[in-house]
Amino acid sequence: MAKRPLIIDCDPGADDAVALLLTLAPGQEFDLLGITTVAGNVPLAHTYANARRVCALARAEVPVLAGCPRPLVHSLTTAEAIHGPTGLAGAELPEPSQPPLDCHGVDFLINQCSQAGQPITLATLGPLTNLAVALIKCPPIATQIAQVVVMGGSLGPGNITPAAEFNFYVDPHAARVVVEAGLPLTLIGLDVTHQVLTTPERLARFAALGNRVGQTVARWLAHYGQGEGDRYGLPGAPLHDPCVIAYLLQPDLFSGRPMYLAVETDSRLSRGRTIATPYLTPEYPATAQVMEEVDAEGVYELLWERLARFGEGVRG
Ligand code: RIB
Ligand code: CA
Repeated sequence: MAKRPLIIDCDPGADDAVALLLTLAPGQEFDLLGITTVAGNVPLAHTYANARRVCALARAEVPVLAGCPRPLVHSLTTAEAIHGPTGLAGAELPEPSQPPLDCHGVDFLINQCSQAGQPITLATLGPLTNLAVALIKCPPIATQIAQVVVMGGSLGPGNITPAAEFNFYVDPHAARVVVEAGLPLTLIGLDVTHQVLTTPERLARFAALGNRVGQTVARWLAHYGQGEGDRYGLPGAPLHDPCVIAYLLQPDLFSGRPMYLAVETDSRLSRGRTIATPYLTPEYPATAQVMEEVDAEGVYELLWERLARFGEGVRG
């Protein structure tokens, strides 16, 4: 069966990096066309370098492109307190093994969607600036997007403000452009990712995988987890971005409902707030599939099974 073409847009960031490794594990169902990076958890120079180093760790020859260095309107908000000063604190990574590519991440998204022999699946793990700019610059690409699965938003409280989840808060205007573009959109927000908790027992399973990837992931999540779980009174840090890849690999691990979805862009207190309702009317039609429940243990079993495929050196 032909592999599904996939592009990942991300801001690594520890959880983004784990999501990339889940995608890059040997024997994947996807044809990963490329990884576009955006400013978010840390500035673009770091997210771009981190994505290239994760590919070197996985010994994966995948194009990595630098995208937008700041949100559409607001100045950049970053999260070094959670991810460390460079975005991947806790473990050493190899130097990038591929030369930098002289193509902007936005143009890569446009070119791939325009040239695609078949519609492309997009997984977005950071602020939506790159995808929003691509849709603004070349609206017809919307017809070449088979599915976009977005880590972002929250039906409940936010994580960077009481009102908003980080990716939607950093660039609410970009989130609004994407949500209003009429794309086949699936949203995986904090309501789901706060059920996927890296407890000490689960962390130990990564370290026990017996390969460098498992050790590296355990070190990233040990650092990243410090404080995140405590902050919410949870037994472990929520693992956000790998949920997007887990959904693409095993959608049955998740359940949700069609909802009307919008993003607040004009309020000071509610900047980036997710506005959603499953109670649909002609005025408020379904604009996204919003996930609400997840088999968290199933996500971790998938992660451990896939990351174990990397051989002792790295790849299997
Ligand atoms: O709110 C969590 C999201 O913001 C995750 O994608 C994390 O990596 C940050 O980008
Ligand atoms: Ca992210």
